[in-house]
Amino acid sequence: MKKMTTTRLQSLKGDRPIVCLTAYTTPIAKVLDEHVDLILVGDSVGMVLHGFDSTVPVTLDMMTMHGAAVRRGTKKSLLVVDMPFGSYQESPMQAYRNAKHLMQETGCDAVKLEGGADFTETIYHLTSGGIPVMGHIGLLPQSVNVDGGYKIKGRDSKTHKKHLEDAKAIEQAGVFAFVIEGTTEKLATKISKAVSIPTIGIGSGVGCDGQILVTDDMINMFPDFTPTFLKKYADAHDLIEKAVKDYTKDVKSKKFPGSENSF
Ligand code: KIV
Repeated sequence: MKKMTTTRLQSLKGDRPIVCLTAYTTPIAKVLDEHVDLILVGDSVGMVLHGFDSTVPVTLDMMTMHGAAVRRGTKKSLLVVDMPFGSYQESPMQAYRNAKHLMQETGCDAVKLEGGADFTETIYHLTSGGIPVMGHIGLLPQSVNVDGGYKIKGRDSKTHKKHLEDAKAIEQAGVFAFVIEGTTEKLATKISKAVSIPTIGIGSGVGCDGQILVTDDMINMFPDFTPTFLKKYADAHDLIEKAVKDYTKDVKSKKFPGSENSF
């Protein structure tokens, strides 16, 4: 079992697609760790586990707690923890202080932050201070309130130049890889060809160097969430619901606990 590092991950570009998923808890991390290259403790945890309607309310304390839990279940994969909204936008110094906290308190291998050319100084400050950074461009969920919603990027070819510049700027600043979220396949492919580091797509087509999904989405914990980009590989919602119904029936009919479950 060889531990994934940022440099090993980079060497996969052009070799084979990179496999990534999210985790927020120890048991899910243990299931993923054997199979994926990278586990992301995404700030999507706020929407998936805590019931918020965006990632904006997620705090550093929440990311620290979930990051540490996932670390306890992760031995092999590269472990990346998201920097939450407001924890890095003020200044490179604020970003360093909070990224250091995440690295030291969770034991993660790297942090991820959203943003393009506007964040090059911050990315450079973190990486030159020993903190590996994963970037995130395209649709930026933490900016949903200024963007006026979750909108696919790159439909208007005039905006391609800006996204391409963002990608090149964060590569230059030192990110070891970056997420491209919610762009047209054409734009993501163009960006992936223009940079020498891995691009990890979500809702951005097959032209990226790897793919990531939110695990709870791809196992159908949310039957009503059916965006085009998502493929559901299992039906956890139905499985859990059936177990709950069977248990309820057994308790009410006194079939559970049986003599085999009793002392
Ligand atoms: O928060 C998250 O889960 C993410 C992925 C969707 C890339 O940033």
